[in-house]
Amino acid sequence: MREKDDILDKNKTIQDEFENNIRPSKLDDYVGQTDVKENIRVFIEAAKMRNESLDHVLLYGPPGLGKTTLAHIIANELGVNIKTASGPSIEKSGDLAAILSTLEPGDVLFIDEIHRMPRFVEEILYPAMEDFQLDIIIGTEGNSKSIKINLPPFTLVGATTRSGDLSSPLRDRFGIICKLNYYTDDELASIVKRTSKIMGVEITSDAAAELAKRSRKTPRIANRLYKRVRDFALVANDEKINLDTTKKALDRLKVDNYGLDEIDIEYLRSLIKKFNGGPVGLETIATSIGEEVTTIEDVVEPFLLQEGFIKRTRSGRIATEKSYAHLGINHSYTLFDMEE
Ligand SMILES: Nc1ncnc2c1ncn2[C@@H]1O[C@H](COP(=O)(O)OP(=O)(O)OP(=O)(O)O)[C@@H](O)[C@H]1O
Ligand SMILES: [Mg+2]
Repeated sequence: MREKDDILDKNKTIQDEFENNIRPSKLDDYVGQTDVKENIRVFIEAAKMRNESLDHVLLYGPPGLGKTTLAHIIANELGVNIKTASGPSIEKSGDLAAILSTLEPGDVLFIDEIHRMPRFVEEILYPAMEDFQLDIIIGTEGNSKSIKINLPPFTLVGATTRSGDLSSPLRDRFGIICKLNYYTDDELASIVKRTSKIMGVEITSDAAAELAKRSRKTPRIANRLYKRVRDFALVANDEKINLDTTKKALDRLKVDNYGLDEIDIEYLRSLIKKFNGGPVGLETIATSIGEEVTTIEDVVEPFLLQEGFIKRTRSGRIATEKSYAHLGINHSYTLFDMEE
């Protein structure tokens, strides 16, 4: 059996210092997601008043919107410890049992990518979630017996980019289900300003707004681009991060006005040029640009759909007028413009 620490990802969290410094640790510092935030605030308050553990929470939404951050905030606001694991790293039932047996009353167990947990592991989780009981089989074949172990009450926080991939028995055991949405430009601008303040660098409001506009509505991307823009500003010897340097930096990084990156553009170009604007199937388009199907489905398409660049129809994906206009391709010419 692997070491517990291995499974708990404890040491893996020697993350980039930047990341640790800018990650909000209180609900009040968590920007946006107002409905989710305010509901969670109430549930936490109520759990504390009753002196009970918080009901299990499922967080879902595209990558980089703050699921991991929120899981840590929940534990922090509850004033309990958080143990973290990720779905694919729990390979055996013993792995999960080992994690569960380290929990103290009220603790948060955070399982990232919970949709990638093996099914038989999932089944051990059911009684653990429902009755705080661990049913395990010990001994060898022919001489095995099932034993029940009581667990302290705990809160499971699961995160997933694909709630559709979660089995319904698992989903049904979460009392609180929260969908995280893409952020508005204003919210992202305030995240960028907050980050810059923590870094001790001044940024003008128009520069923060520009960064926000080009961050794919995603805090992780906003922070990542912020870091690079800060580099350009430093080298340019700017006193503050200003609009001019921000624009130049983002152009150099090939992030366009809508925040679409190279993969987004390749996707749209392929959809329009190779497949005449669709409809085309997910796998076909993924292959055509040499990307994983899961990347396309979890990362690329949700944003393109939300921003109206593509539509999903029963026969496949189609490009909208907005895509043609954005790429500067005349819609009526595409039938004859199949080269490239
Ligand atoms: N609401 C928010 N306010 C301020 N910063 C945020 C917020 N949400 C996310 N961030 C920042 O964005 C970054 C990405 O967030 P996080 O790692 O929590 O995303 P995630 O949803 O867990 O992504 P993944 O699905 O890839 O695991 C973090 O560095 C965090 O500091
Ligand atoms: Mg995460």
